[in-house]
Amino acid sequence: MLGQLLLAASGSGIVRRSVSGFPLTRKVVDRFVAGESVQEARNAIERLRDANLAVTVDHLGEETRDARAAETVAQAYVTLLEALKPLQLGRRGEVSVKLSAVGQRLDDGMALEHARQICAAAAANGSTVTLDMEDHTTVDSTLGILRKLREDYPATGVAIQAYLFRSEDDCRDLAHEGSRVRLVKGAYREPASVAHQDKQDVDKAYVRCLRILMAGKGYPMVATHDDRLISITELLADRFGRTLGDHEFQMLYGIRTDRQEALAGAGHTVRVYVPYGDDWYGYFMRRLAERPANVAFFLRALGGK
Ligand code: FDA
Repeated sequence: MLGQLLLAASGSGIVRRSVSGFPLTRKVVDRFVAGESVQEARNAIERLRDANLAVTVDHLGEETRDARAAETVAQAYVTLLEALKPLQLGRRGEVSVKLSAVGQRLDDGMALEHARQICAAAAANGSTVTLDMEDHTTVDSTLGILRKLREDYPATGVAIQAYLFRSEDDCRDLAHEGSRVRLVKGAYREPASVAHQDKQDVDKAYVRCLRILMAGKGYPMVATHDDRLISITELLADRFGRTLGDHEFQMLYGIRTDRQEALAGAGHTVRVYVPYGDDWYGYFMRRLAERPANVAFFLRALGGK
C-alpha cells in the first residue's frame, strides 16, 4: 500500500518539488546515488573497482519531451564515457540508458540515434550499453530499438521485468547467443491487466524467466538482492552447465553492499548499478517504494536523527 503511494508520488510534480527542495533529503539520497557530478561518479566507480566490482553507470533522468534535453542527456553519457576511459575498465565499466531520457516519448528514431551515439562512445572504451526497461507502454519500442542497435553493437543488453505477463515470451526471444539480458522484478506501478501484483507471483515469474535465460545461449544478468533468487541462480547454473564467466549478478548502488562483495569474493562477476546526476527524484522514490524500512530511514533523517 505504502509502496503504491510512493510509486504514485514518483509521478507527481508537486511532491517532486517538495521532496527535492527539502535540504535534509540530500543526506538520504546519498545512500542510493553516487553524486551529482561526473567526478563524484568517477570516485564512486573507482571505489567499487577496488572492491572487485564491475559497474553499469546511469546518468539520472527520465521522460523528457524536449528534443534539446534529450540531446543533452546523450551528450552527458558521451562526456561520462570519456571521463571513464583512463580507468580502462573495458566491459567492467558499462552504462545503462533509459530511452525515455533520450527522446523515446518524442520519436523512436531520435532515441535510436542518441542511443547509437552512446553505444559508439561505449565501444570506444571497449564497453557496452544496457537499455533499462521503463513502464509497460515502452516495452515494444525499447525492444525494437534494441534490435536496431544490435545490428552495429551486438553486445547491447536490455532489462526484462519479470512482473509483466509478456516477459517469459520476451525471454524466449532473447535467450540466443550473444544476447545480454538483465532480469529484474520490475519497479513501476503497473495495472493488473499487464503485470502480476502479488509479490509471490512476481517471484515465481522471476524464476520462470530465469530458467529460460539460464537454459538458453545468451548471457543472463541476474539483477536482484533477493537471496532466494541468488541461490536458485546458482542451482540453475549447475543444472545447465554454466560457469562463472557466462552470467553475472547485478545489484543497486548502496543496497546490500556486503552481499555484493561476498559474491565477488566467491568468484562471481558482480555489477553495481551506479546512478549519478541531479535528476534523482524518480529513481529515489522507486527505491523508497521497494522497502518500507527505507521510508523509516528517510523519515529519521528528516527528523535529524
Ligand atoms: P525484493 O524487492 O524482493 O528485495 C529483496 C531483498 O533485497 C529485500 O528484502 C532487501 O533486503 C533488499 N532490497 C531490495 N530493494 C531494496 C531497497 N530499495 N533498499 C534496501 N534493500 C533493498 N527495474 C525496472 O523496472 N527496470 C530496470 O531497468 C531496472 N534495472 C535494475 C538494475 C539493477 C542492477 C537492479 C538490481 C535492479 C533494477 N531494477 C529495474 C529494479 C528492480 O525491478 C527491483 O525493483 C529491485 O531490484 C528490487 O527487487 P529485488 O529483486 O531486489 O527483490
